[in-house]
Amino acid sequence: MSDTSTVVGPVVLRSPLIAAAGTVGSVVDFSATVDFSTYGAAVAKSVAPDPWPGRTPPRVSHAGGGMLNGIGIQNPGIDRWIEDVGPQLSAMAVPIWGSAVALSAEGFATVSDGLERAGVAAVEVNLSCPNIENGKLFALDPGSAASVVSAVRNATKLPLGAKLSPNAAQISEIVAAVMGAGADWVVLTNTAWGAGFDVETRRPKLSGVVGGYSGPPLKPLALRCVWETHRDLPDVPIVGCGGVTTGADVVEYLLAGASAVAIGTAHFSEPRAGRRIHRELLRFLKKHGVESIHELIGGAKPW
Ligand SMILES: Cc1cc2nc3c(=O)[nH]c(=O)nc-3n(C[C@H](O)[C@H](O)[C@H](O)COP(=O)(O)O)c2cc1C
Repeated sequence: MSDTSTVVGPVVLRSPLIAAAGTVGSVVDFSATVDFSTYGAAVAKSVAPDPWPGRTPPRVSHAGGGMLNGIGIQNPGIDRWIEDVGPQLSAMAVPIWGSAVALSAEGFATVSDGLERAGVAAVEVNLSCPNIENGKLFALDPGSAASVVSAVRNATKLPLGAKLSPNAAQISEIVAAVMGAGADWVVLTNTAWGAGFDVETRRPKLSGVVGGYSGPPLKPLALRCVWETHRDLPDVPIVGCGGVTTGADVVEYLLAGASAVAIGTAHFSEPRAGRRIHRELLRFLKKHGVESIHELIGGAKPW
C-alpha cells in the first residue's frame, strides 16, 4: 500500500487529510458521527477570548453549488472551552488542533495560551473569518497578520499554522509576513466572501448579508493561492483547503504544492467523507504507481 503519511512544518501526520475548523463542531461533539480514523488531524471550531453568541438565523444557505455561512463564530470563550473540551481531547482518535480567533493580537495570544493548557497538539490562528462584526480581516494586511502571529508565537511553543483568505490579491505577501513572524505553515484557504438573495422574499440569504462561501466552487480560488505561494515561496509548508470532495481533489492540491489537505463543507452532507476520500486517494496512488504522496507535492508540470 502506498504511503500517505506527510509532514507539515514540524508536524508529522499519518494521513494528509485534516478535518477543517468549524465543520466538525468542537470535535468532541462530532467524534461519534465523523470517522476520524483516516485523518491526520482534526481542527476544533475557532474559539475566542470571551463567549461569542454568533449571528441570528438564517446563518447558512445553498448558493451556486456551494454553501454560504454566516455563523459569526459562535463559541463559548476559551475558559469554558478549556473546561468542557479540554478533558476529552486525549480520548479523541486523532490529534486535535485548536483554532484561535479574536479581535486583537493580544486576544489571539490569550486564546492560544489557553488552547495549549487544554492539551491541543497544534494551534491554527484564524486570521481570515469574514464574519466578525467589525468586518476586519487580519489576513488581508501583511502587518496586521504578522502582529497576530508574532503575539501568538510568544504565547505558545506549539506548532503554529496561519489560516489565510482567498480574498487576498497578493497572497504570497501575506504568507511571507506570517512565516516571518513565526508561523510554521499556512492554511490556504478559509472561505471567500459571498452573498445571495432570495428572489421571492427579496431578502438576503444570510442575516449578516455577507458571509463565507465554501464547497466545490471555492476550490479554484484556493488552488490559485496554493500554487502562487508554492511558486513564490517553495519552502513554505501548505495545508490546502477549499472544496475537497474526492481523492482527485486531494491530488490536485498536492500537485499545486500543498503537503496536506483540509476537508470542510463535505462533512455536512457526508460526515464520513474522509474515509471515502482516503480510499479514493489510495486507489489513485496505486493506479499511477505512486509509492508516497511526497512524490506528488509541488509536482504540477508546466505547459
Ligand atoms: C459552517 C462553517 C463554519 C466554519 N467555521 C470555521 C471556524 O470556526 N474557523 C475556521 O478557521 N474556519 C471555519 N470554517 C471554514 C472551513 O474550515 C474551511 O476553511 C472552508 O469552509 C473551506 O473549505 P471547504 O470548501 O472544504 O468547506 C467554517 C466553514 C463552514 C462552512
